[in-house]
Amino acid sequence: MIESGKTYLVMGLLDADSIAFAIGKMIQSFGGKVIYTVQSERMKKIFFDRSKKLTEEDRADLDIRFCDVTNDEEVIALFDGIEGPISGLVHSIAFSNPKTCLGEEFHTDAYDDLMKGFHISAVSLATVTRYAQPKMVDGGGVVALTFASERAFAFYNWMGVNKAALEAVVRGLSRRHGKEKIRVNAVSAGPVYTIAAKHIPGFEELGNTWAKSSPLGWDPKNAQREVAGAVAFLLGNYSKQITGQTIYVDGGASVIGGELMPYEMPSAD
Ligand SMILES: NC(=O)c1ccc[n+]([C@@H]2O[C@H](COP(=O)([O-])OP(=O)(O)OC[C@H]3O[C@@H](n4cnc5c(N)ncnc54)[C@H](O)[C@@H]3O)[C@@H](O)[C@H]2O)c1
Repeated sequence: MIESGKTYLVMGLLDADSIAFAIGKMIQSFGGKVIYTVQSERMKKIFFDRSKKLTEEDRADLDIRFCDVTNDEEVIALFDGIEGPISGLVHSIAFSNPKTCLGEEFHTDAYDDLMKGFHISAVSLATVTRYAQPKMVDGGGVVALTFASERAFAFYNWMGVNKAALEAVVRGLSRRHGKEKIRVNAVSAGPVYTIAAKHIPGFEELGNTWAKSSPLGWDPKNAQREVAGAVAFLLGNYSKQITGQTIYVDGGASVIGGELMPYEMPSAD
């Protein structure tokens, strides 16, 4: 598991519903130190404005830096500014222009938007791993967040393509960084109602239907913690021989053909 006193970098904080925030809290519950990143200095203010439930004490305890992952200089400055080694890195970042890359029509000629989405959602995992490596002196875990790229979902269009690419980047990096004892894996989460998800047209419907094909059941409003548990496992030292993998935390929906029969439905808690 997470090693007490060690430092973990969690990239992709937007608000208290972000999967990144649940991961950070999970790491802290095991005694790890967390450095979060938001996309820009302005986003830090937005995070605090949106996270009204946080106490003053919570706020004072948060170490939040900023980094746009498409800007190599900001990535380098981020790692230069981190005191001491890090034991793990979480990439919880994605973007695809909803107007041009998601929605009812798959075809698009918005090539700049396609390239931007690919850069942020897939290529940037390689960028951050590259510059994190010198700080990961004892090896450690890099974990990215993905979504069911083996299937084509309505509206998800080019983000599905980016996620397939991200999983391929995970495999490429696992091969490249094995010699440094850096493990690179992805967690494929079922739908979770976060800000990124809310920008995907039809996502709420997807969340509602997910439970119909999840043997374990699935609650998109409360799944962050379940996802965070698997990320913590992959960051820590109980997963020392696991790399290049995509681990599904989706209630089991990825292995089910069709919908569950009424007699297979999990009972409500
Ligand atoms: N919400 C879901 O249903 C779900 C399911 C599976 C996987 N995921 C993945 O989990 C990850 C986190 O998403 P989330 O649902 O917590 O949403 P979120 O909106 O809270 O997080 C997405 C983050 O990406 C950041 N980002 C976008 N462009 C960036 C850039 N250029 N530089 C740095 N950061 C940038 C945003 O600022 C935001 O913090 C994403 O990779 C997402 O695809 C989400």
